[in-house]
Amino acid sequence: MADLSIQYLGLKLKNPVIIGSSGMTGTVAGVQQAAACGAGAVVLKSIFEEQILHEMDSYLNETEKENGNSFNKGYQSVLKEREYDYEEAYSYLTDHAKDLTLQKYLTFVSEAKKAVDIPIIASINCTTAYDWHYFARRIEEAGADALELNVYVLPSNTMKNSAENEKIYFDILTAVLQQVSIPVALKMGYYFSGLATSAIELSKTGVAGLVLFNRPFHPDIDINKLEIHSKYLLSDPSEYSHVLRWIALLSGRVECPLIATTGIHTAETAIKQLLAGATAVEVVSAIYKQGYSVITDIIEGVEKWMDAKGYASIDDFRGKMNQQSIKNPAEFERVQFMRLYSEIV
Ligand SMILES: Cc1cc2nc3c(=O)[nH]c(=O)nc-3n(C[C@H](O)[C@H](O)[C@H](O)COP(=O)(O)O)c2cc1C
Repeated sequence: MADLSIQYLGLKLKNPVIIGSSGMTGTVAGVQQAAACGAGAVVLKSIFEEQILHEMDSYLNETEKENGNSFNKGYQSVLKEREYDYEEAYSYLTDHAKDLTLQKYLTFVSEAKKAVDIPIIASINCTTAYDWHYFARRIEEAGADALELNVYVLPSNTMKNSAENEKIYFDILTAVLQQVSIPVALKMGYYFSGLATSAIELSKTGVAGLVLFNRPFHPDIDINKLEIHSKYLLSDPSEYSHVLRWIALLSGRVECPLIATTGIHTAETAIKQLLAGATAVEVVSAIYKQGYSVITDIIEGVEKWMDAKGYASIDDFRGKMNQQSIKNPAEFERVQFMRLYSEIV
């Protein structure tokens, strides 16, 4: 029987199928279901940087004073002034962060850890390195095995150049890595002026994994109500291919494991990501669409395929189809094919 176990984030995972961060992983019951269906690990629902900053003046300031750290006061006004944090977003935050969100998150982390025997990866969603990073240590103390930072910089600010936008990722990693000793993974966006070189540089920071990629919500316009809303909250199975390209291009070039996420709904797509060089995959939408049993199906499908191919371990085939290993390396880089375009009339 094939051995599906892998090493990721300094931990032994019994298989490479991780349940990604989502509403489902925001409760202890959800985490227990994740473990029950056989997942290798689970990423908890993210706490947002804004939620942390919202309580900096009270909760975090008090606890950090004991450690000899002092903060500027007035994070709430900082939040209010953030250009991207429109009034609606701010009131959402104040409504939802009334009752000590931070302490609740920490309690959740420690209860989730006690409830299951698979690794628990906590998650912080952030876009700046603005002082919230002290909270990362609290998450470690609460018992998380590792931390995934969800950083997505949309380079839409016309006053910032690409170097300034990309520096944010490095600043955040530097700040957080100074706070914690648990492994830290970075779930990153793909809007980089030089995605390959940035990923390689990021992999040298001490980060324990790069999760490719954050999936943005898709804006849409309702032409009757003339309103803008977000669409396609859940991924489509065809979306795996964009990630596959970058896993294949970066595999063997980065200095840390690569994790594939987005559009992985079947064992077949999970296997493709592993062949391209991923260490593991993270799955979310497929569970919303098909239930937790899809995780069991993916794990069993990978195992069956390995047995049929005679692979004893994931290492036997990981990266076998990455760009460095295939005959036509240009295939992964071609974005427009004259021949394919010409065939369709
Ligand atoms: C309802 C929902 C909630 C999510 N919440 C989070 C979150 O809190 N933190 C995070 O990093 N990603 C979050 N995500 C993104 C997923 O972790 C994942 O990156 C994305 O859905 C793409 O993977 P998939 O194709 O398997 O769904 C969420 C996705 C959905 C659908």
